[in-house]
Amino acid sequence: MTIRCAVIGLGMGRGHAKAYSEHKDCQLVAVADIDAARRERAAKEWNCATYTTAEELLEKAKADVVSIATPNALHRPLTLAALASGAHVLCEKPIAMTAAEGREMVAAAKTAGRRLMINLSYRFSPQSQVLKNLVDGGALGKVYAGRTVWLRRRGIPGLGGWFTDKKLSGGGPLIDLGVHRLDLALWLMGHPKSTWVMAGAWNHLGSRIGASQGKSYSVEDLAMAMIRFEDGSMLEVEAGWAANIKEGELMETRLLGTEGGLVQKNVGEGYDFQAEVFQERNGTQLDLSPHGPFPECKSAYHHFVEAIRDGKPHTATGEDGVAVQELLDAIYLSAAEGRPVAMGATTTKTGAGTG
Ligand SMILES: NC(=O)c1ccc[n+]([C@@H]2O[C@H](COP(=O)([O-])OP(=O)(O)OC[C@H]3O[C@@H](n4cnc5c(N)ncnc54)[C@H](O)[C@@H]3O)[C@@H](O)[C@H]2O)c1
Repeated sequence: MTIRCAVIGLGMGRGHAKAYSEHKDCQLVAVADIDAARRERAAKEWNCATYTTAEELLEKAKADVVSIATPNALHRPLTLAALASGAHVLCEKPIAMTAAEGREMVAAAKTAGRRLMINLSYRFSPQSQVLKNLVDGGALGKVYAGRTVWLRRRGIPGLGGWFTDKKLSGGGPLIDLGVHRLDLALWLMGHPKSTWVMAGAWNHLGSRIGASQGKSYSVEDLAMAMIRFEDGSMLEVEAGWAANIKEGELMETRLLGTEGGLVQKNVGEGYDFQAEVFQERNGTQLDLSPHGPFPECKSAYHHFVEAIRDGKPHTATGEDGVAVQELLDAIYLSAAEGRPVAMGATTTKTGAGTG
């Protein structure tokens, strides 16, 4: 069986294309991008068909799996079009601009009988999987508090481009970086049902930096939120592209439970992570570091195509994407209106999916 794969958008989409090209049961048949240089580079590298528009790719490539890796505003329309073409879709995070858009995508996948996965990629590391196994196995007891953070001192992506234009991105660091750390914490915590959100968002530095370079900046540069869950637990979220902190790049997810705590944080301001679990045994405080070799962990791309190949459920479902997005919507609303926001009764169920 060969799974015909295609990718729309060749920034982050290059990672999707590379992964498909390297899988023995996949063929990267086509890519699309409006940028000619990016198309040419991909054609040389992977010897696949290239298209200028997503529409042309969807019509001609006859792909089984389509990755959507375009600016956020295009996630919904291109996912709907790809599903309508008969393909399964692996869409980049965030699922969309709003939870309502995300719900529409999930419903469309169900109607089409196709799968929808969101690239919530920070789950797909051996270390994250080990932490998930520890939490699920009871190493923390009952988790009652957490903090999940991704902050940069100065790290605004593509200043003046789509990332800093609210109409194309839906928001700033919260929807860009916060989405990852929020998903990781929710996933580790077992997706407790959220009840309240209290948040703030600011744009002091971003607008100043944008103005100094003659570039527009219409999103937040920092967002902070407290999320309260039905079981009494709480999670603090912080996401920033520009903040007056020491570190250039700081990622940290911390969970506190009745029997233990854990932290996963980046090392040396880079993209490698270290993790520790803290427990008390017979009156002694223990610091425990997970020690490899860890069980194999497929990338999100290979996880998706193998789930399709083997008829097995995939994780990081459209529903999981909507669950994060519902919180992002509530955080933005709370910040804009300066009040706590109750989560709606329609909060989406999460879990493994085949549809
Ligand atoms: N999972 C992750 O860790 C991760 C990391 C980075 C980015 N992303 C996500 O990936 C998406 C893309 O981000 P990026 O950093 O690659 O941005 P980017 O601007 O580098 O790339 C986007 C690409 O889409 C192309 N494009 C725009 N409109 C198009 C259209 N109508 N048809 C075809 N191509 C079109 C652009 O020309 C560009 O090459 C975003 O949703 C972002 O949030 C995810």
